[in-house]
Amino acid sequence: RILILDFGSQVTQLIARRLRESGVYCEVWPYTANIERIAGFGAKGIIFSGGPASVTDMASPRPADGVFALNLPVLGICYGQQVMAAMLGGLVEGGHGREFGRAEVTVTGACAITQGVWAPGAVETVWMSHGDRITVLPPGFEVVASSEGAPFALIADVERRYFGTMFHPEVVHTPHGAALLRNFTHGVCGCTGDWTMAGFRAEAVAKLRAQVGGGRVVCGLSGGVDSSVAAVLLHEAIGDQLTCIYVDHGLMRAGESAQVVATFRDRFNITLVHRDASEMFLGALAGVTDPEVKRKTIGRLFIEVFEEEQHKIGGADFLAQGTLYPDVIESVSATGGPSVTIKSHHNVGGLPAGMRMALVEPLRDLFKDEVRALGRELGMPEEIVGRHPFPGPGLAIRIPGEVTREKADLLRLVDTIYLDEIRKAGLYDAIWQAFAVLLPVRTVGVMGDGRTYDMACALRAVTSTDGMTADVYPFEMSFLGRVSARIVNEVRGINRVTYDITSKPPGTIEWE
Ligand code: XMP
Repeated sequence: RILILDFGSQVTQLIARRLRESGVYCEVWPYTANIERIAGFGAKGIIFSGGPASVTDMASPRPADGVFALNLPVLGICYGQQVMAAMLGGLVEGGHGREFGRAEVTVTGACAITQGVWAPGAVETVWMSHGDRITVLPPGFEVVASSEGAPFALIADVERRYFGTMFHPEVVHTPHGAALLRNFTHGVCGCTGDWTMAGFRAEAVAKLRAQVGGGRVVCGLSGGVDSSVAAVLLHEAIGDQLTCIYVDHGLMRAGESAQVVATFRDRFNITLVHRDASEMFLGALAGVTDPEVKRKTIGRLFIEVFEEEQHKIGGADFLAQGTLYPDVIESVSATGGPSVTIKSHHNVGGLPAGMRMALVEPLRDLFKDEVRALGRELGMPEEIVGRHPFPGPGLAIRIPGEVTREKADLLRLVDTIYLDEIRKAGLYDAIWQAFAVLLPVRTVGVMGDGRTYDMACALRAVTSTDGMTADVYPFEMSFLGRVSARIVNEVRGINRVTYDITSKPPGTIEWE
């Protein structure tokens, strides 16, 4: 295993991703971790991430004293390189102009990191992002690659196994970056790359059994990937000690509730409480048009119903949550200031704040794509494991204005046709999320010889890697035309279809 000390770079998580992709288990800790904790982790090597600070600043972040005395290989990236150089007797200075983006470096030497990846004499593309630079190397270091703007682009102390890059090997814009990192973890640190999902599964099952003992666990199931995988993993570990509660708010996509019940109860034999609370939710949403009030209403009711059901089954000792690794990483934010609430998110995994139960978080070490891989390892169907994200408040936030059962039914019909065509065209997996929105306007149309005055809908499809930013999916016009024709012909009450071409930002993915 490898330890990544985070100095606050935007891309620290990518280091972890690259390492895990090459079969190396790693964790990201804040740079403030003390030396006992670091020593106790048992890492085979340490990586210092980049960060926004400047080493030339007296108060700049430093890793714990004694980190070099552990005699472990160290790779410093960007700020990490500079902090390493400063601590080992080199000199770092500012004022050389900032360098951002793609750059070319010449390989002037060789070391374990470049072996078999960068040949001496070659010119290689890297991605730079820095202000300061090293001006005097610490004793023992030599230059392995350089450019005019970055004379110490890659440096190495071969003896002590310390390496530093001024560029970011973890981003895809450094084409051989993953191979360089692999040389560090496998070549220098001696990792074997045997961290696999099968291994994780066995380890996680053992850990869950040890944590839960003979206790009882409840798990809120949403039908989404995270809670579904958490439930199946828990069931493998503790069998009937697990009860899943599926609160059906009546705002799911067509056929989804039946599918959840069939998958978990029938196929996986999991004890499942299916509570149809659609009357209650739709009743509470009557007359509500404000997006935040909708979200809060649904969130509050969800907790109420969940608590009711969990009392009915006689309570439990543990509450399972589908927390993922990105939620867990202790963030080293440069600004740390309060951010504006764009939307109050409601998530089955992160709900019941007032419940007095211990937490079980079987996925807290995994990234989203690793959760999918684990689901496949557990034999879960692709319809669940590869499913597009779906928001906790469901179709309510895809129906601007008041939500009614009739509108939800209409939207389900539109959504089904749209997704059906996307699947038929083989586009489902290329899209992060695709869905329809029912617009609160009526427009005039003509069908046959008659006038229509019906509702309009919008289609949305985006690509994204984490939902934080998104691009519009560039469908062929012929595809959109086909979908539009089917919707208007097959869904009575809709006579107009539009395609939302807003990216995020400035738009958000959902409409509310
Ligand atoms: P926005 O609309 O904020 O959405 O661009 C980003 C991603 O988050 C999903 N989303 C939610 N997920 N509970 C969830 O679990 C919510 O309340 C919620 N609201 C939005 C959205 O579908 C997209 O994937």
